[in-house]
Amino acid sequence: MTNSITLRRPDDWHLHLRDGAMLGAVAPHSAEFGRAIIMPNLVPPVVTGDQARAYRDRIMKALPDGAALRPLMTLYLTETTDPADIVASHADGLIAAVKLYPAGATTNSASGVTDFDRVRPVLEAMAEAGVPLCVHGEVTDPEVDIFDREAVFIDRILDPLRRATPGLRVVMEHVTTSDGVDYVRGNASGGAMGATITTHHLVINRNAILAGGIRPHYYCLPVAKRESHRLALRKAAMSGEGPFFLGTDSAPHPDSAKLQPCGCAGCFTAPNTMSILAHVFEEDGALDRLEAFTSLNGPAFYAMPPNEDRIRLTRQETEVSFPTEIAAGDETVTIFDPGFPLFWQTEPA
Ligand code: DOR
Ligand code: ZN
Repeated sequence: MTNSITLRRPDDWHLHLRDGAMLGAVAPHSAEFGRAIIMPNLVPPVVTGDQARAYRDRIMKALPDGAALRPLMTLYLTETTDPADIVASHADGLIAAVKLYPAGATTNSASGVTDFDRVRPVLEAMAEAGVPLCVHGEVTDPEVDIFDREAVFIDRILDPLRRATPGLRVVMEHVTTSDGVDYVRGNASGGAMGATITTHHLVINRNAILAGGIRPHYYCLPVAKRESHRLALRKAAMSGEGPFFLGTDSAPHPDSAKLQPCGCAGCFTAPNTMSILAHVFEEDGALDRLEAFTSLNGPAFYAMPPNEDRIRLTRQETEVSFPTEIAAGDETVTIFDPGFPLFWQTEPA
């Protein structure tokens, strides 16, 4: 049995750090990642380059001394976004990508896109300038079953949008279905597409949320699907294939907002993500492909070098105990419980 593996320092290609007291509480839990793509769905959202710069400064202040993390900022695409601001912010190295939320699809997406024709000029400018588009891939049509919203998004929105904007590089964020995996795999040539896969979608299927009682801490968006989809995600993550890389979508909410008649979507996985990933890759005999998923494929997609330094994951004899929650101001935030004991621990290499 392998007891220790050394990896290039991982990156997180999809992370929610929030703001204010929550930012202060959660940022240290991502400090060991090399880089992270920071989601812009604050209230109000991060729409302009100036707002992204100010938010990056707040993140840097919230990180502990010696943190490895370098935040890679994104702008929240609205129907009034100025293409010149995107292009200039990307050329300056301030932003790494732009995030598209269909309006109403998820947390703080109200300012997102309703009419995709209205963002066509922005997307064309992005294609021209090589700015990747990160997509929350779910339709918002209330007629569409929530478990089908990703697959329908591909047919109705994503594929037409990509055909209309040749050269636009797209990341399908937090892919949750075999349809998503197949679409990305079939359209990835030349770096045209990538997909992030979360830690929690490798672990839970929809039963975790609904069977034997309702478990709000497993509710996230896109919602976890049936087991066959989870297995397709695991296969993709463990394949070593270039288009698939880690984006935790660690999305902290106060317990007071999760445990409600209408609770928020999001799983907070930052503290135990690497331990869980080592566990599931080991389970499937794929530890030798963990580095591709966490540390190589993402930088290759974003045309950045992999991190130079390394971390070591060591399998402990006894269970590694993570806290069940953290404090954030007066609130608590529950850490994702994978439902199995964890043995892998991260150390600097
Ligand atoms: O579960 C989720 N939480 N999915 C998202 O798309 C947004 C995120 C959040 O910001 O809470
Ligand atoms: Zn997210």
